[in-house]
Amino acid sequence: HGTSRVNDKGHLEIGGVDTVELAKEYGTPLYIYDVALIRARARAFKDAFRRHGVKAQVAYASKAFSSIAMVQLAEEEGLSLDVVSGGELYTAIQAGFPPERIHFHGNNKSREELMMALDHGVGCIVVDNFYELELLEQLGKQYGKTIAVLIRVTPGVEAHTHDYILTGQEDSKFGFDLNNGQAEQALERALSSSSFSVLGIHCHIGSQIFETTGFVLAAQKIFKKIAAWKEAYGFVPAVVNLGGGFGIRYTKEDDPIPVSEYVDQIVSEVKKQVSEQNIAMPEIWIEPGRSLVGDAGTTIYSIGSRKDVPNVRHYVAVDGGMSDNIRPALYEAKYEAVLANRVLDEENEIVSIAGKCCESGDMLIWDLPLPKAKPGDYLAVFCTGAYGYSMANNYNRIPRPAVVFVENGEAQLVVKRETYEDLVRLDLPLKTKVNK
Ligand code: LLP
Repeated sequence: HGTSRVNDKGHLEIGGVDTVELAKEYGTPLYIYDVALIRARARAFKDAFRRHGVKAQVAYASKAFSSIAMVQLAEEEGLSLDVVSGGELYTAIQAGFPPERIHFHGNNKSREELMMALDHGVGCIVVDNFYELELLEQLGKQYGKTIAVLIRVTPGVEAHTHDYILTGQEDSKFGFDLNNGQAEQALERALSSSSFSVLGIHCHIGSQIFETTGFVLAAQKIFKKIAAWKEAYGFVPAVVNLGGGFGIRYTKEDDPIPVSEYVDQIVSEVKKQVSEQNIAMPEIWIEPGRSLVGDAGTTIYSIGSRKDVPNVRHYVAVDGGMSDNIRPALYEAKYEAVLANRVLDEENEIVSIAGKCCESGDMLIWDLPLPKAKPGDYLAVFCTGAYGYSMANNYNRIPRPAVVFVENGEAQLVVKRETYEDLVRLDLPLKTKVNK
């Protein structure tokens, strides 16, 4: 997929660059991003809205992968940016991202984080709960500012892959419940305060969703309320943000629909609702993370040790694992992989790919057909671009890998590999040892 192909050496090539050469130059594990594919996905979302002639914003949910270069790429592609912490906001600011296109999310933003957002003039704050409303109201007074907000509601639609659940009252830590009066309470409060300008409504129904049904249902529920709010408060949202969650293909079993399909269904439902409820057409915002960067990322590992359990299993270990990809351990996520240096060799055994962390749960892939792998071979695991680096950690004091962008035959290091010095940089020695 994307610009991936096999070159005449039988090596995996991405963006016109030999991944084996990259592994030799930058070391392993190594995350490689196909920049052209990220651009293509961004354009697919934006073009789909453009075809419908509706006003829209596509915000990249930077929790999927945040780094200065990634934020700059999002900026180049005309995306907006969803940040969920002071750290993601700081990264965006350091990257020179236009603050007015930043949306600040989170269920427990601190006063400091909110002040940081106000100091930088972020485009809007997605208000999640009553505590935050109160904090923001004080800050609005303190700053003498009117704060643009979206009210995050929980519509009682929850979607995961092909399943969606309808619940009267959703048991979720996020947002104001749409079904028990909380959303109204929040809206009334925000509308009656001079600290706020209520830009609109936000909801997010889940992640790795393969069907449009959940989005359509959420839109229906929200617009029904919007009609009532128009009556009650004369409030009509300028923006309706339907969140992210568009699914991608990790393995052959996954069956995603094209990005344009989600947009088509969302736009036609919103248009239908708008005409039925006789309200003005709002801007439609979405905030995809995974579907912008997920399948653009590939991780290259070096193959190391092997353990054969007779008649049971062949364990083949790589030089990373749950420290750079915690998704298999955390969600039983599935991945596909090939030997990057021998892509076309016959797959003549079934192996299970083990990470190098000291726990049995650190397995990257179970039962993978592979050519007989030996030390010195490279394993390429596909679709690691979302929630890979961003959830990477230093468990077992393993330094986090480097990240390389490839495009048009050129490679660019965008995140350096952590060093052992980095690992102890914040450590302080025991007092008694210092005094001696
Ligand atoms: N908007 C909001 C409010 C969200 O909470 C999320 C993801 C997104 C947008 C982007 O969702 P996406 O398009 O990437 O599905 N660590 C998990 C995924 C957690 C998603 C959390 N929220 C994983 O690795 O699968």
